Amino acid sequence: MSEVVFRKMIVDDIDAVFEIETTSFSHPWSRQSFCDEMENERALYIVAVAEDKPIAYMGTWLIFDEAHVTNVAVLPQYRRLGIGQKLLRHMIDILKHKGICSMTLEVRESNFPAQAMYQKLGFEAAGIRKNYYEDTKENAIIMWLNDIG
Ligand SMILES: CC(C)(COP(=O)(O)OP(=O)(O)OC[C@H]1O[C@@H](n2cnc3c(N)ncnc32)[C@H](O)[C@@H]1OP(=O)(O)O)[C@@H](O)C(=O)NCCC(=O)NCCS
Repeated sequence: MSEVVFRKMIVDDIDAVFEIETTSFSHPWSRQSFCDEMENERALYIVAVAEDKPIAYMGTWLIFDEAHVTNVAVLPQYRRLGIGQKLLRHMIDILKHKGICSMTLEVRESNFPAQAMYQKLGFEAAGIRKNYYEDTKENAIIMWLNDIG
């Protein structure tokens, strides 16, 4: 694999990011959702790029001094290569410089790969949202990463 570069997401990345989304989730966001996020002042999206194409993306909403993770996904053929954790570390570095103190997210109870990645980066489980996911009524685990600065 060529060198992987991490940078802010731009409008021209939307097609590739939508492909990552549809290959990663059973109920993906619409393409329009990503267009809307590019206009959202509180949203911050980054991508990992290899061979001139986004292969992973991550989004957050900045709310006061907290960052709420909207999503993280890596194209299936690029998983288990450390890209997810590097993407998360890159996001944490950007957030630190913006004065953000903590990050939070929801993850499906059955999504062990994602939970393992978040734990590796220091996130801790802090509670459950019952029946959070509309499709399967699955519970969400709420995770926090505190004192990121
Ligand atoms: C979760 C996801 C983003 C991880 O991306 P990735 O690039 O494969 O992850 P990394 O290679 O950086 O792995 C980081 C750590 O996560 C854990 N991990 C990742 N995939 C795992 C798996 N399939 N099984 C167990 N642990 C896993 C490991 O602790 C790993 O560290 P290690 O390689 O030193 O063991 C990726 O699996 C994905 O896109 N999944 C579908 C979308 C999704 O579920 N997003 C999260 C929504 S909350």
